[in-house]
Amino acid sequence: MTTHPFPAGFLWGTATSAFQIEGAHDQAGRRPSIWDRFADTPGKIEDGSDARVACDHFHRWRDDLAILRDLGVGAYRFSVAWPRIKPHGRGATNDRGLDFYDRLVDALLAAHIAPFVTLYHWDLPQELEDEGGWAARSTVDAFVAYADVVARRLGDRVRHWVTHNEPWCIATLGYEQGDHAPGHKDPVRALRAAHHVLLSHGRTVPVLRHHSPGSQVGIVLNLVPAEPATESAEDQDATRWFDGFFNRWYLDPLYRGGYPEDAIDDRVQQGHLPDGELPFVMPGDLAAIRTPTDFLGVNYYSPAILRGEPATDGGAPRRIQVVADAPRTDMGWEVRPSALHTLLLRLHREYQVPKIYITENGCAYDDPIGADGQIHDARRIAYLTGHLVALSRAIALGAPVAGYFHWSLLDNFEWGHGYTKRFGLVHVDYATQQRTPRASASVYRTIVTANAVDSSTSP
Ligand code: FCB
Repeated sequence: MTTHPFPAGFLWGTATSAFQIEGAHDQAGRRPSIWDRFADTPGKIEDGSDARVACDHFHRWRDDLAILRDLGVGAYRFSVAWPRIKPHGRGATNDRGLDFYDRLVDALLAAHIAPFVTLYHWDLPQELEDEGGWAARSTVDAFVAYADVVARRLGDRVRHWVTHNEPWCIATLGYEQGDHAPGHKDPVRALRAAHHVLLSHGRTVPVLRHHSPGSQVGIVLNLVPAEPATESAEDQDATRWFDGFFNRWYLDPLYRGGYPEDAIDDRVQQGHLPDGELPFVMPGDLAAIRTPTDFLGVNYYSPAILRGEPATDGGAPRRIQVVADAPRTDMGWEVRPSALHTLLLRLHREYQVPKIYITENGCAYDDPIGADGQIHDARRIAYLTGHLVALSRAIALGAPVAGYFHWSLLDNFEWGHGYTKRFGLVHVDYATQQRTPRASASVYRTIVTANAVDSSTSP
C-alpha cells in the first residue's frame, strides 16, 4: 500500500454547472438560454429530455450543501446562470437571480466551503444568440456587463472567479460541429466565436479584479493530450494538427499573445480562413486576451490518439481519432491517468502556467443500486484514485496544482446525452429527486480528510 500525500492547503472540491442541475427554468425571472431552445428542438438530446427540472437544485440547494458538508470538501465550483441575471442578455438586471447566488455564497462560506464561481458555463441567453451569439462581437460587451453586475454583488465574498468554461466546446461543439447549442455547423463562425469568448475573458479580468480585490481570477480549458497511433509522419502530423486545434488554439493566445501559426495554416488549408488572415482580430484584442491571470483551470477526462492519411485530392489530409483498445467510461472516453500527469508537466514547462486547479475530472458509469441499498461504483473509485495518484506524482515533479474538483457532485443533465450519463459521486433518482451517495463519495471523503490518496483504495 502506498500513500500519496498532497501539499498542505491543497483544495478539494466538487464541480457542477447551473444549467445541468438547477431546473426552475422559468422561475424568479429567468428567461430561456440557447440550451433551453436546443433541448426543445426534436432530435438534439439523446433521450429527448430537457433541463426544466434537472436536479431541482434551485429549490433543493440547502440539501445539496449538506451533502458537500458531509463530503468535507473545502471548495465548491458552480456556475452563475446568465439568463437569471440578465434575462434578455443585456440591459435590465434581475435582482431575484442575484439573490439566489448571494444566499448560496453566504451559506457556503458559513460552512467553510470556498465558492469557485464560473461566469459562463454555456447557457447564453437566447436573445443574444438571436443577434449572432458568440460569433457576434457585440456579445463580448454583453458578457462584460453581465460579469460586472455579478462581481459587484458577490465580489466582496467570492475569492475565486472563472470567466469561461471550455471555450473549445463553446466554439467547436456549438458553432462548428453542431452537437451542442446553438447547433451551428459553420467553421468560420466557430473561429469567430472562439475569439470572442477569449476576448470577453480578457476584458472581464480587470472588471473582476476591480470589484473583487485580492481575489484569484482564471479561465477553464478542456485540454486533451494527443499522441500519434504510430511514429509515421502522417500520424505525427495528425497529432500536431489535433493539438493545435484543441489545445494550442486557446493556450497560445492566453499565454503567448497569438494564435499558433501552424494551426492558422491548417485552417487556411481547410478553407476556413482567407490566406493567413484572422479577419475577426482587431487591434488590441491579443493584448487583452493575454492579460495575466492567477490560475488556469484544467478539465481533464481523456487523451486522444491520432492517425493521419495523406490527402488524395490535394486538399487537407484526413485526421482520424482512433479508439484505443483500453478501458473506457460510458462516454466512450479512454481512461488514462498518466496523460493527466504528462499534460500538467507540459503546462508547467512549455507555458509556465503559474498555478493550476483541476476544475473537472470524473467519469460516467451507471452502477445499479445493490440489494443493500448501496451503489458500489468500483470503476469510479478506480478512476478517481488513479487520477489522483497521477496528480500527486505531477505535483511532486513541480506541477503547480493547488486543488482538485471532481465532476460531478450529482448526476445531472449531460448536455446532448440528456440524463443517460451519470457522473455523480451522488446518484440522483430523477423521478423522486432522491440523492444517494455512491461508495465513491465515501472514498472521496476519506481522501479529502487525509489530504492523501492511497493507491490501494482501488478495488
Ligand atoms: C465537460 C463540461 C461539464 C460536463 C463534463 C462531463 O466538458 O464542462 O459540464 O458535461 O464535460
